[in-house]
Amino acid sequence: MNPTIKKMTEHVSVRDFKDQAITNEQKQALLMAAQSGSTSEFVQAFSIIEITDSKLRNELADITISSPHVKKADTFYVFVADLNRQAQILKAHDQNLDSLKNMESLIVSIVDTTIAAQSMAVAAESMDLGICYIGSLRNNIKRVAELLNLPKLTIPVFGMTVGVPKTKNQHKPRLPQNCQVATNSYNNHQFTDLANYDQVVHDYYANRKTNASDTNWSEKNLAIFKQIRRPEVASFLKEQGFTLA
Ligand SMILES: Cc1cc2nc3c(=O)[nH]c(=O)nc-3n(C[C@H](O)[C@H](O)[C@H](O)COP(=O)(O)O)c2cc1C
Repeated sequence: MNPTIKKMTEHVSVRDFKDQAITNEQKQALLMAAQSGSTSEFVQAFSIIEITDSKLRNELADITISSPHVKKADTFYVFVADLNRQAQILKAHDQNLDSLKNMESLIVSIVDTTIAAQSMAVAAESMDLGICYIGSLRNNIKRVAELLNLPKLTIPVFGMTVGVPKTKNQHKPRLPQNCQVATNSYNNHQFTDLANYDQVVHDYYANRKTNASDTNWSEKNLAIFKQIRRPEVASFLKEQGFTLA
């Protein structure tokens, strides 16, 4: 296993950071890595907003489930799916914006944004920095958009904290490959045979050093998905100009 892959397999989200700044060179490297990923048809449909204003950081943090570590991390970026540049280009050529508003363009912009973020995450961990995605910004996605002055056809998809790790959780065991990887066609039986994995995840949660609990992977997913989550995201997307069709 080469050092890059070894680092990737050791990934854990970090929620406890040292009171230590990351350097400007490190930040530049993170941003360059984020900008260097693949991008659908070279559209580069994302923007990254660093939050340096402490009042704004606190307001954003209070929207999330992760307020203490969002406030404490040295650096906090918000990743924005962004078709506004394309909108300006089309408008300048008297074109309508219909092609930017459909579901296909929405997927393109969210995928581009996610590739950029994960490229940053891998770069951060290669420098022994820790990261945590902050999707709970979408607890109040409309307010986040207001706070960041986001124009139409943009979406604050998630934040990412970056800092020097103080403590780290144990690595969470991933699905066994036979539950997630197949050849030539989807294997329903294999992919939903979760009993062994539930036991592995149960043991992980029972034995971990902090926040030990009596649960497993299926139970966690049941708790997450037994109710509709953040239904207001759809109306926000419509307000931002997307048709969802
Ligand atoms: C899109 C996305 C959003 C996430 N949002 C949050 C969040 O708001 N707060 C948090 O503490 N962790 C968040 N996480 C981290 C996940 O909880 C974490 O990746 C998952 O539990 C697996 O643990 P690991 O990253 O330590 O392996 C998020 C992860 C992703 C990919």
